[in-house]
Amino acid sequence: MAEIRIETKGAWELWTIDGEARRNAISRAMLAELGTQVARVSSEGKVRAVVLTGAGTKAFCAGADLKERATMSEDEVRAFLLELRRTFRALEKSDCIFIAAVNGVAFGGGTELALACDLRVAGPHARFALTEVRLGIIPGGGGTQRLTRLIGPGRAKRLILTAEQVDAQQALALGLAEAACGPEEDLLQVAGNVAEAVVTGAPLAVAAAKHAIDDGVGLSLDAGLALEFRRYEPLLDTEDRLEGLAAFAAKRPPSYRGR
Ligand code: COA
Repeated sequence: MAEIRIETKGAWELWTIDGEARRNAISRAMLAELGTQVARVSSEGKVRAVVLTGAGTKAFCAGADLKERATMSEDEVRAFLLELRRTFRALEKSDCIFIAAVNGVAFGGGTELALACDLRVAGPHARFALTEVRLGIIPGGGGTQRLTRLIGPGRAKRLILTAEQVDAQQALALGLAEAACGPEEDLLQVAGNVAEAVVTGAPLAVAAAKHAIDDGVGLSLDAGLALEFRRYEPLLDTEDRLEGLAAFAAKRPPSYRGR
């Protein structure tokens, strides 16, 4: 059975983690499929953005599958963790833009999955938490590092050391979500609008901007500016840059081809 339901929406896809009965927890099978799908969109280069959500109304993703975990040896847990980290990193390194549509609980690895995405849209029932210290572990899917980079060390410590749960509005205020929608709005519509906006941009430019931002975090301003220039330069020689200028002059929408 497929662990992730995939629907094509033109230049972007909707991925739904299809494990409602276990609150979309990350099993080994689900992780393998996530890895396969991330590799597919990254190598093909046709899918420009992915909206990632969870099946049902309760959970985006309840983190690692704790029932499966209870059957695993220490070595198996270690191997799972390494695969989780590799998969989240592959998602982050992809030219594709990942948008988490957080439709419910995102605990532990669920929050970490959302953190590995480029953008997070929180629905009215979203609840984020890094619950690991309550389970005798620490976030191992990048949570201590990505949350700190996103919202700063003080706020990251507040959430990780206390395992505090935050709702959509709190997540927005903390900078853990970039958008939140109210009960009167359709989360997938709001996240889909973000995906549509992303795929309206020139493909090479959107990807270059993503990597310039991601790779520049933590660099000195001078090193970051140099990195920005390195990412800008290859765009000078693209058909899409000329198309952008031509479309502006002709007062028509551009038609980008990723060249
Ligand atoms: N792994 C495996 N199964 C999980 C799971 C997880 N992470 N989270 C929930 N489930 C399962 C439950 O065991 C239950 O299965 P059952 O019907 O066979 O008993 C089913 O999903 C529904 O869970 P339930 O707690 O009844 O639903 P809920 O909607 O009231 O609460 C959660 C959902 C996610 C808030 C709650 O289950 C929870 O806190 N889970 C642990 C999440 C966590 O700490 N993850 C971090 C892992 S590092």
